[in-house]
Amino acid sequence: MDPYKQALQAIRDMVEEAKQIAPSDLMVMSLATVDAVGQPSVRTVYLQAVVDSGLVFFTSCHSRKAIQLAANPRAAVCLYCQPLARQIQVEGTAWLLGEEEADMYWATRGRDSQLAAWASSQAESLESREDFEHRLAEYRQRFDFRRQVPKPRHWCGYCLTPERIELWKKSWRYPQQRVCYQKAPNGWSVTHVNP
Ligand SMILES: Cc1cc2nc3c(=O)[nH]c(=O)nc-3n(C[C@H](O)[C@H](O)[C@H](O)COP(=O)(O)O)c2cc1C
Repeated sequence: MDPYKQALQAIRDMVEEAKQIAPSDLMVMSLATVDAVGQPSVRTVYLQAVVDSGLVFFTSCHSRKAIQLAANPRAAVCLYCQPLARQIQVEGTAWLLGEEEADMYWATRGRDSQLAAWASSQAESLESREDFEHRLAEYRQRFDFRRQVPKPRHWCGYCLTPERIELWKKSWRYPQQRVCYQKAPNGWSVTHVNP
């Protein structure tokens, strides 16, 4: 199999296996971005989908990460599943998804996080905790009779297109294994690295 497809499949496998262990949990990942002076920042986001062009996530277009990505789209994510003893690191470029594609993945998001996105303005400070809860209650009421909560205009989808993928795993049969997939001008290479 093509090394890139093989690495994507490893990500999909980890997501599927993690879901079987904790069915209610969405896969989360740490997303790192950098600001104009090269200061990295990192936070947790939901991994929305793994598509052929990369890893899809959503955020507020006004958030700090969105502002940083607009200036510098280089980003990295790290997914860790403790029960599976597996880690996946992905480095590459995060591109804004088109509206149609973003709407499609948005529809797969849980209703609670869809409503929270309507109520949340990530870049602004909050007057009080109740302020957010009131907004959330308003949106819950507004979309009460709609099967689908639409994507708010201020919420955008990104696809992190990988240039490097590193898998780390451990099993009862083997000690730690590290495999690195790297994009090169003539295709993807695979290297086994010391754990
Ligand atoms: C489990 C979990 C899942 C989260 N998922 C998302 C997400 O999918 N998108 C998002 O923008 N923020 C998500 N957050 C909130 C972010 O971690 C972060 O607080 C927020 O996006 C603001 O980050 P920024 O100011 O660095 O842009 C999640 C937090 C947790 C703990």
